[in-house]
Amino acid sequence: MTLKNIMLTPGPTPLPPSVLEAMSRPLIHHRTAEFGRMFTSVIEDMRFVYRTKGTVLMMTTSGTGAMESAVVNLLSPSDLTIVCTTGAFGDRFVKIHKAFGLNPLVLPFEWGSSVNPEALGVTLKRNKGVKAVFLQHTDTSTGVVNDIQTLSKIVHEESDALVVVDSVSGLAAERLETDAWALDCVVTGSQKGLMNAPGLGFAALSEKAWKVVETARLPKFNFDYQLIRKSLADKETPWTPAISIVAGQAAALKLLRAEGMEACWKRHDALAAHARKLLTEKLGLPFYAKNPANILTGVVLPAGVDGSKLLADILREEGISIAGGQLHLKGKIFRLAHMGYITKSDIDAGVDALARRLVGAKA
Ligand SMILES: Cc1ncc(COP(=O)(O)O)c(C=O)c1O
Repeated sequence: MTLKNIMLTPGPTPLPPSVLEAMSRPLIHHRTAEFGRMFTSVIEDMRFVYRTKGTVLMMTTSGTGAMESAVVNLLSPSDLTIVCTTGAFGDRFVKIHKAFGLNPLVLPFEWGSSVNPEALGVTLKRNKGVKAVFLQHTDTSTGVVNDIQTLSKIVHEESDALVVVDSVSGLAAERLETDAWALDCVVTGSQKGLMNAPGLGFAALSEKAWKVVETARLPKFNFDYQLIRKSLADKETPWTPAISIVAGQAAALKLLRAEGMEACWKRHDALAAHARKLLTEKLGLPFYAKNPANILTGVVLPAGVDGSKLLADILREEGISIAGGQLHLKGKIFRLAHMGYITKSDIDAGVDALARRLVGAKA
């Protein structure tokens, strides 16, 4: 065991001191004016981060719960939807659909690639009456970013479908403009760019999405958006929220407010550029993503290297957490995160640890 850990994982990410302090304060009850003030500040600051004047809902859940909440609140049993997949998280949207008896039209793209806007346009032309198109902003399994602005434009030009975006790893790391890009539902989680512990899910909804919510018939209870919106008017949540994590979120959002979104995105541009320069200089191994996101860099390991052992050794001996590949990429790539409260010096330490062990290895 090491005394100090450096987290370079793409969620959870390290926590700023003010967030740790906020989470360690004595608990307050959630049906009080004090909680109401804190909760309202979280919702208002989330609207700032989402770049929306629309409604933002908060749920006590992980990112997957927020994804599920979008499916069950926007869809009815016979709805036709398109799910664009570029990795593990698009596949998760498909699995959620199937769990609720829906059979989406899956538009798959090779791992490491982004969604091709033309292919989505053609699919929408061939399939009329699509209710919603599901997309990832950034796919954390591969480290790609999708051009959500262009994809949303195509969906709105070709159809009446809702644009539903999983920005669990993208929000507050990559530019995202909920209103300006006409996104209907954007879901996220607290533990990545939002610099908080895991435990909160959020959804931002357009007016058009609300009209659909009011008639959607898939079963739901815990994630019922209409109930959650009703409580929001009373500065409450319908059920007991993760109070300490809400306190952490309020503190983290104060940091993002003070920084401003443009500066936050620029910081992530710089951090990603720093990581990629260093990785190229010190390792010289190929990057995995064709259109890499600012959230992480996926690096392909040389054939003979056991990636799982490499990362386990670095964690055990140096206290540095770096993520490996998921599913068929397990052991074959590593994913070095550069989002949220991760700093240049954290990245330097991680790349140094990798370089010391990989010296001489060639992909
Ligand atoms: C893009 C994306 N979507 C969804 C999820 C699921 O979030 P959670 O693990 O909090 O359920 C993740 C988590 O890594 C993610 O990166």
